[in-house]
Amino acid sequence: MWDEKGTQYLDMYGGHAVISIGHTHPHWVKRIEEQLEKIAFYSNSVIIPIQKELAEKLGKLSGKEDYQLFLCNSGAEANENALKLASFHTGRKKIVAFKKSFHGRTSLAVAATDNPSIVAPVNETDNIIFLPFNDEQALKECFAKQGEEIAAVIIEGIQGVGGIRVANESFLQLIRTLCDTHGAVYIADSVQCGYGRSGKFFSHDYAGVNADIYTMAKGMGNGFPIGGILIAPHIQPKYGMLGTTFGGNQLACAAALAVLEVMEKENLVEAAAQTGHYLLDSLSKIEGLQNIRGKGLMIGFDLPEELKDLRKKLLDDHKVFTGEAKPNVIRLLPSLAVSKEQADAFLEALKETIAEIRKGETVEA
Ligand SMILES: Cc1ncc(COP(=O)(O)O)c(C=O)c1O
Repeated sequence: MWDEKGTQYLDMYGGHAVISIGHTHPHWVKRIEEQLEKIAFYSNSVIIPIQKELAEKLGKLSGKEDYQLFLCNSGAEANENALKLASFHTGRKKIVAFKKSFHGRTSLAVAATDNPSIVAPVNETDNIIFLPFNDEQALKECFAKQGEEIAAVIIEGIQGVGGIRVANESFLQLIRTLCDTHGAVYIADSVQCGYGRSGKFFSHDYAGVNADIYTMAKGMGNGFPIGGILIAPHIQPKYGMLGTTFGGNQLACAAALAVLEVMEKENLVEAAAQTGHYLLDSLSKIEGLQNIRGKGLMIGFDLPEELKDLRKKLLDDHKVFTGEAKPNVIRLLPSLAVSKEQADAFLEALKETIAEIRKGETVEA
């Protein structure tokens, strides 16, 4: 990226995990321009063939070919619709969510988000049960007690805003089993960890289980606003149960199709896995970084107190964008197309910044 003065930046943050195929990818620009010349929007009161094209391509690339697709405009909306559908489907009210989760800022999505400071009084509800993340015993006990009231379990395969916390495979498998046993819906919030970012299409795929609903947004449009939910065939939404004015408009579908076409052509899911391995391995050799974790290009590490200014210095002195999670986590969420050379440039900048901070401290001392 370049700013108005022409200064070049390396974006290891991907505009908050949104940039999947790279900023202004030429195929994405062309696809949107061509669609704009034809028609940008018409309401869902008519059949929109490009939605079907998108659903087919997404089903193929994600391996969820028998799932239905509902399109909306953001991650919060995707989760809102998924939770609503789960409640319609089961006729139940209780939702299991996890500590440090983030599911969005709309009414039910924010209620299922573990951050009281962004939940308005009107969003408060007794219907959400928060459990500790990766705690199998707590989950079993909850289902033993309230299993017949639970409409859905909603979980990020890798918590993003919560600080890059990876769900254990056995935990996701247990969610699958308990949802099956008790007739609850397994919702995989894949808004941040989905769409190839983890090195598999959905991070939940690592556990070898299928969720009932996958929610998606961020990487789906590479910056063009679009979200969606993939719905397993045993859930049959009735006509009119879910609806939207803007969701699935022609322009958004063209952007989303361009993303999938580039992901396929450039083999970006595999690239994310490989570059992710390389980064994780290289980061583990840098002295001072703690708890290096993540999958694919969704990586986090903790900073000790002495390196608390690292992120700001990386940006100010080396023009490298990174993300953060409070209090001391650096988050890496670059484009899936980030090259090895760019990864090396980042690692070099990181090592230099750490050395500079340490040198500064010695001088001051
Ligand atoms: C896991 C997860 N779910 C949902 C959302 C909400 O997405 P949006 O901001 O598009 O509403 C986010 C956004 O950061 C997220 O990380």
